[in-house]
Amino acid sequence: MDSKSTGTSSTATLKVKDHTVEMPLRSGTIGPDVIDVGKLYKETDCFNYDPGFTSTANCSSKITYIDGDKGVLLHRGYPIDQLAEQSNFVEVCHLLLNGELPTESEYQEFSGAITRHTMVHEQMTRFFTGFRRDAHPMAVMCGVVGALSAFYHDSTDINDPEQRTIAARRLIAKMPTIAAMAYKYAIGQPFIYPRNDLDYTSNFLQMCFAVPCEPYTVDPVISRALDRIFILHADHEQNASTSTVRLAGSSGANPFACIAAGIACLWGPAHGGANEAALNMLKEIGSVDRIPEYVKKAKDKTSGFRLMGFGHRVYKNYDPRAKVMQKTCHEVLDALGIRDEPLLKVAMELERIALEDDYFVEKKLYPNIDFYSGITLRALNFPVEMFTVLFAVARTVGWVAQWKEMIEDPEQRIGRPRQLYVGEASREFIPRTERG
Ligand code: CMC
Repeated sequence: MDSKSTGTSSTATLKVKDHTVEMPLRSGTIGPDVIDVGKLYKETDCFNYDPGFTSTANCSSKITYIDGDKGVLLHRGYPIDQLAEQSNFVEVCHLLLNGELPTESEYQEFSGAITRHTMVHEQMTRFFTGFRRDAHPMAVMCGVVGALSAFYHDSTDINDPEQRTIAARRLIAKMPTIAAMAYKYAIGQPFIYPRNDLDYTSNFLQMCFAVPCEPYTVDPVISRALDRIFILHADHEQNASTSTVRLAGSSGANPFACIAAGIACLWGPAHGGANEAALNMLKEIGSVDRIPEYVKKAKDKTSGFRLMGFGHRVYKNYDPRAKVMQKTCHEVLDALGIRDEPLLKVAMELERIALEDDYFVEKKLYPNIDFYSGITLRALNFPVEMFTVLFAVARTVGWVAQWKEMIEDPEQRIGRPRQLYVGEASREFIPRTERG
């Protein structure tokens, strides 16, 4: 295939058998151009084959930009480290949803609306009791968030911008409440109602850790650290769960049900489930002297073992979120007076060894965000089963922003990939009695 730029218009030329087709090249603000293959099938009778979408852009988007080679992550143009250090999660939610950081009055209106949507319908509490106590909280999240679609009928007309906004705000506001309820149910404690005098993250912490029989004071160090973790997880362009939400939403489905689909996808250990898996792996390694054994195992394809928290489809350099996460991890452990955390020692040594190992260097496998988030979340007192739930709380704004962008994009149609069929060709039905 050739591509040429002809001033204002650029094309790629593809020769298929003896047919030549010219396809437009489209440029974004930054990042690689895309070849618009929309007419490929019509003109060549061939589909584009790309399992895992390694070379396929499914949409145009203004929300998040990643340069995987340079390790850059921008939300609406702002670098992730600046947002993590200088902003707060609610402000970042406004940025992702609306395209701009809020002015003071916009912030007051937005954060007030989020605060006032944090309660869930009282009847929803009964949903939880239908689950076994030992259910994984992600299973509970899939079910309960999906069930929101049965409760908030006044915000499900996706063609009404006002209703889309209300659904978006409800989801961002109610997700921490549902996540905290999933946690409380698992440990057999009463649900704690939201408190409107607290900020988003402090409120989440009190819903998780307060009990009705004594006062609870939120530790500002913990709240700030968790808020930063939420910022780091807020969006990551067209990752698996976001693409799932877009695909589910492309049929015009109920927004709450679409987010439940995203939660289901996020749960997988190759995606959001990696933070839980990474911490479990560090625990399994246990001590620095066992690291070489695990590095060897990770390099052996037949072992089926991978270093969890390492590697990324897009980042072929240090994940910029992992850098902030590592710093946050140290800050949290220092602030909480946790000295000599053995898992941190294992993590730092594993990182050092892997980054010097030819296998990891050649394949450009660097620590990703999940590598240090597990240790941090554990220090904040969350059990491992809650790690991916916290990821889901933070990622909800990304899912919702991308869902909204998709609905508002005139180019978007129902998502309907094609396939290379390799099954049986047409054959005649044989009655069971005649099958040999
Ligand atoms: N440990 C050992 N080898 C690895 C690892 C790893 N963590 N990750 C990739 N490789 C090898 C893989 O075996 C393959 O080798 P080869 O080319 O010889 O066959 C090569 O690197 C490329 O891997 P891939 O699976 O083709 O790459 P991918 O882009 O399809 O997968 C990934 C990306 C993140 C799923 C993968 O790196 C992985 O499984 N990592 C561990 C799980 C993890 O930490 N996931 C969190 C991702 S970041 C947060 C999020 O997205 O939610």
